[in-house]
Amino acid sequence: MSFDLVLFGGTGDLAWRKLMPALFQAFRHGSLPDGGRIIGVARDELSDDDYRELIRSRFKAVEGAKRPTEEEFKAFASMLYFLRMDLSRPEDYARLAEMISGRGADTVVMYLATAPNLFTAVVKQIAAAGLNTPRTRMVLEKPLGHDLASNRAINDAVQEVLSENQIFRIDHYLGKPSVQNLFAMRFGNALFEPIWRREHVANIQITIAEDLGVEKRGSFYDQTGALRDMVQNHALQLVCALAMEPPINAHADAIRDEKLKVLRSLKPWTAESIGLHAVRGQYAAGTAYGERVGGYLDEPGVDPDSRTETFVALRTEIANWRWAGVPIYLRTGKRLSSRDARIEINFRAVPHAIFRVPAGNANKLVINLQPKDGLELHLLAQGQDQRARTNGHSARAAQSLAPVQLDLDFDKRFGSERVGAYERLLLDVIDGRLNLFVRRDEQEEAWRWVEPLLDSWGADGRPRSYAAGTWGPSTSSAMIARDGFAWGEEQ
Ligand code: BG6
Repeated sequence: MSFDLVLFGGTGDLAWRKLMPALFQAFRHGSLPDGGRIIGVARDELSDDDYRELIRSRFKAVEGAKRPTEEEFKAFASMLYFLRMDLSRPEDYARLAEMISGRGADTVVMYLATAPNLFTAVVKQIAAAGLNTPRTRMVLEKPLGHDLASNRAINDAVQEVLSENQIFRIDHYLGKPSVQNLFAMRFGNALFEPIWRREHVANIQITIAEDLGVEKRGSFYDQTGALRDMVQNHALQLVCALAMEPPINAHADAIRDEKLKVLRSLKPWTAESIGLHAVRGQYAAGTAYGERVGGYLDEPGVDPDSRTETFVALRTEIANWRWAGVPIYLRTGKRLSSRDARIEINFRAVPHAIFRVPAGNANKLVINLQPKDGLELHLLAQGQDQRARTNGHSARAAQSLAPVQLDLDFDKRFGSERVGAYERLLLDVIDGRLNLFVRRDEQEEAWRWVEPLLDSWGADGRPRSYAAGTWGPSTSSAMIARDGFAWGEEQ
């Protein structure tokens, strides 16, 4: 099967950091169908060879086994092409159409990795140039729009020229091996299903922490903020994967129907719950990797008076029979204490205690998403009594339990060279598999849910300040402490 992959934003940050490495890995793993072209599109004055050299320079920074050999890069580079385009000029789309139709590939993928405010105009031009054929698939990067109305406007424009099954709304968290494993754990094993519900679960915590700041994306990030950048998409998709009912089969719509129900069941925000259950923060100067780092307001491209949040912590609930009353805590932020993404399912305490137990949740299942990919099952066990007996404290010690854990490391078990998120998703687009992409109604529901927060935060106040290298503002811990719980690593 032949394909053309047109990468709008071909010299941009996403192509540089994620897409090119993913395409190279797919090529190296032998998973990219033969006879494909990757066409980078941007305003730069570059020839095909200049573009290949640019991409070669990107791989120079890669260390270890992921770095291509000279031979590998040469073979990969023969798939790379470049087309200079001004995205506002119809004649440039005509040149693209000529380049595409001259070859007649089986599949033509248009990957929009540009600023989202260009999407509608680009899509219209693509259609005007006749590039919206049944062979076309379009990939739309997040965040798609900046609120519900702009999201709808983009989706309307795209659906005017392509059908829903040609549209691939990407959320790269769904492509992570650890998230695939969450589906596998829940729906490939019967073990957890009976306890995966309100009768057994005390609370759920989802953390997506990053130690980096906004890096070179200050001006983009300042218009976006953590709620739009991480919560509306990645965090809510994790909530869906975790809380959805088992789908009737593994087809795209069966999965997406169940995810949609979760989004529809999220407790809507009120002015009162925003005050109590939503925390926003912004990093100030602090310490990262043992060094002093500046605050968000000093980052290049950021308005020195910015009120954009770089941290969000929320408490929500899912109003359905399985989850009613179970608090779900979400937290994400930049310049936090470490890079750490994980989900913790905290189970209820024993109904009647006959042992002395340490404070905190005794039983929890931790799904580590990154940097580790694995599962931990936390239990209590008796390990101390022998030593204590010799110390003469036999009866008390025999009644004391200590925390232990079962630890499953997927990288060790399956090797750390597994298919990465973007590699997996790009191959799915080329093959036309929609399972791991977000349907329009899901995306709208997620925007609808965050919108009251956007409105409220946009209207007044400033985010709370937190020092870089910490776990965010203290109000985040206070929020969860009001329910009698604590964030996992703070117990
Ligand atoms: C992106 C956000 O979607 O996800 C970035 O725009 C964020 O701000 C990134 O850094 C995190 O992805 P990952 O895979 O590194 O956890």
